[in-house]
Amino acid sequence: MRSFVRREGRLTRGQARALERLWPAYGVAPEGALELDALFGRRAPRVLDIGFGDGEALVEMAAGDPQRDYLGAEVYRPGVGHCLLCAEAAQLANLRVTPLDAVALLREHLPPASLDEVLILFPDPWPKKRHHKRRIVQPAVLDLLAGRLRGGGVLHLATDRADYAAWMLETLEADPRFTNLAGAGRFLPPPAPRPETKFERRGRELGHEVFDLRYALHSTHPPTTDPSGESGGGSHGR
Ligand SMILES: C[S@@+](CC[C@H](N)C(=O)[O-])C[C@H]1O[C@@H](n2cnc3c(N)ncnc32)[C@H](O)[C@@H]1O
Repeated sequence: MRSFVRREGRLTRGQARALERLWPAYGVAPEGALELDALFGRRAPRVLDIGFGDGEALVEMAAGDPQRDYLGAEVYRPGVGHCLLCAEAAQLANLRVTPLDAVALLREHLPPASLDEVLILFPDPWPKKRHHKRRIVQPAVLDLLAGRLRGGGVLHLATDRADYAAWMLETLEADPRFTNLAGAGRFLPPPAPRPETKFERRGRELGHEVFDLRYALHSTHPPTTDPSGESGGGSHGR
C-alpha cells in the first residue's frame, strides 16, 4: 500500500535542467544495498528525511549540521529538482537525494542499523478513515524503521493535523521498541529542534497547531539476525 499518489506535477525548466545536471553529484537510485560510506565518501552519522517536499528545510538542516550526512527521499520530481538547486546553491557535500518510495528504500536498500535519525515531517495526512492504511506512520513501517535505525537512534515526526498527531502518538506509544523523549504520552514542547517546512508554514497560515514527537529506539533493541534487517527485533505480534 503506497503512502502517496504518483503526481508528475510540472517541472520548471530550471528543475528539469537541475535534475540532469546535478544528478551525478546528488542523485541516488540504488538497485541493491546502498553503501552509505561510499555514497558520502566518509563514515558519519546519517539522517534520513522521508518525503522532504521542496527540500528547503532539508538543505537548511544539512547546511547547519555538516558533521552528519543527510539522505532525502521524495517521490515528487519537481520537489527533487528544487532540492537539487538549493543543495547546489548551498554547496552541500553531506546531502544525497533519491526519488524512490521511502518504504522501498528502507525495505530493500538501506542496511540494518545504518541510520542515526529519521525525519517524517508533515507526512500526507490521509484524513479519510478508508485511507488510514496509506498513512506512512503505521506498525509495518515502524518495523522497517526499527531495523534501519541504530540502537539509540531517533525518529522525529511532525504534523499539523490533530487527528494524525493522535494517531502517531498512539502508534508509537504502543511500540515497546521506542521511548518518547518528551515523556510518555507527550508532544515535544515548542520550539521543535528543526527548521520550519513549507507544509508547516501552510498549516500555520491556516491556523493549525503543530505537533512534534521524538522517539529513541531502545539501545537494548535486539540486533537483527535477518540480513534484510526486516526482523528488526519486531517480534511483538504484528
Ligand atoms: C505533505 S508533504 C510534506 C513535505 C515536507 N516534508 C514539508 O513539510 O514541507 C508530504 C510529502 O511526502 C512525499 N511522500 C509521501 N509518501 C512518500 C514515500 N513513501 N516516499 C517518499 N516520499 C513520499 C509526498 O510526495 C509529499 O511531497
